[in-house]
Amino acid sequence: MARTKSSLPTLSWLAAILLLLLAVSTCVEAQSGPMIGIDLGSTHSSVGVYHESRNETRIHTIPSYVAFTQAGTCLVGQAAKNQSILNPSNTIFDTKRLIGRNFQDTDVQENLQRWPFIVIDRDGKPAIQVKVNGQDKNFRPEEVVARILQELKEWSEAYLGQPVTSAVIAVPAYFNDAQRQAINDAGTIAGLTVERIVNEPTAAAIAYGLDKKGGEQNILVYDLGGGTFDVSLLTTEDGVFEVLATSGDTYFGGKDFDNRVIEHFIRLWKKKTGKDCVEDLQAMVKLTQKVEEAKRVLSSEMSVRVEIESFHDGQNFSEVLTRANFEELNMDLFEKTLQPVEKVVKDAGLSTHEIHEILLVGGSSRIPKVVELVESYFDGKKVLKQDSHHGEKAIVHGAAMQGSRQRRFL
Ligand SMILES: *[C@@H]1O[C@H](CO)[C@@H](O)[C@H](O)[C@H]1NC(C)=O
Ligand SMILES: *[C@@H]1O[C@H](CO)[C@@H](O)[C@H](O)[C@H]1NC(C)=O
Ligand SMILES: *[C@@H]1O[C@H](CO)[C@@H](O)[C@H](O)[C@H]1NC(C)=O
Repeated sequence: MARTKSSLPTLSWLAAILLLLLAVSTCVEAQSGPMIGIDLGSTHSSVGVYHESRNETRIHTIPSYVAFTQAGTCLVGQAAKNQSILNPSNTIFDTKRLIGRNFQDTDVQENLQRWPFIVIDRDGKPAIQVKVNGQDKNFRPEEVVARILQELKEWSEAYLGQPVTSAVIAVPAYFNDAQRQAINDAGTIAGLTVERIVNEPTAAAIAYGLDKKGGEQNILVYDLGGGTFDVSLLTTEDGVFEVLATSGDTYFGGKDFDNRVIEHFIRLWKKKTGKDCVEDLQAMVKLTQKVEEAKRVLSSEMSVRVEIESFHDGQNFSEVLTRANFEELNMDLFEKTLQPVEKVVKDAGLSTHEIHEILLVGGSSRIPKVVELVESYFDGKKVLKQDSHHGEKAIVHGAAMQGSRQRRFL
């Protein structure tokens, strides 16, 4: 009897210890899994996996598009963007402009006419309405963003060959608490624990290693993307960043430069053939794609030939675009980007010579004339610009680096 009495507590102690060990080991396992970095852009979204041993980030980028086919299949990324012209009202983009906002917000209201998809008011919040199997269905922006996050998560899992459940996500510095919370919720829907939300300019600064430099530094981040332009002024001291001022234009970017070139080509076509190609949707789609490509080529070459077979009315399109042409067509737009630069410096109460580093981020900041204008604005100070290491991808690179560091502290 005495033996039974004493062995019972021993057994339950053993069980408790075993349970504790099990809990600790699963916890450790969960925490040692990889943490990815995500840049959720308005036109493109990227995921990055940072390899510390190689000081290198593997990046995968997809268009920020989600679509529902008539049969109800959900397409994400390139597949969704590819069919957007054929299925405009069921193809969703610009969710970054909707997430965490109220239906009555000016940003939402001003876009209602512009979006080819329907946005409805659901309890004061916007919801996107699509038709699936002949039925109206609506989704909150978080649910749509979650599809994009899920796609990026799945890519990283396939790349790493193991489950991924945690991420660092970059958001614009001006995002408020509701917008940040909504990003967090989107992560949860996608099966990701958002361990940290980092400001986009801060992520860019981390990618350039500016958190490792000692002393106090003022950093200007000039982020010119496809459809948005953000300028931020950060200050950092011993790896801690603070946003001093932000400015920019949420409806300005590389697309505006493309449009100037497209208009120019439409005029040339009319002059040469006497025909108007504007109403020819197929022709305009092809021209838009070719102009986008040509613009990229002009960042490294001095001229490019734009050719489109059977462009309009059976006739071929063939024109040369020089870098000088391109700059001339866009000069006023390039110059306009200096206004927010001036504003953030002023709002932070600084002068141009108190800026220690200038970072150029985003695909459109590769344009040589843009680099030249920014450098001359800062009296010839060299900017930190994209190279093969940072690419157009400084933000996702920085978020991924942050993720790998975050992991060590958990
Ligand atoms: C990582 O690589 C970049 C670019 O090659 C370099 O500037 C940076 O110093 C490297 N960082 C480390 C920790 O090696
Ligand atoms: C999208 O279209 C491009 C060219 O039009 C094609 O190369 C690509 O494979 C398509 N992608 C998907 C995912 O359908
Ligand atoms: C258009 O270009 C194709 C391929 O270069 C050529 O075979 C064709 O003859 C051209 N058509 C016209 C109308 O010039």
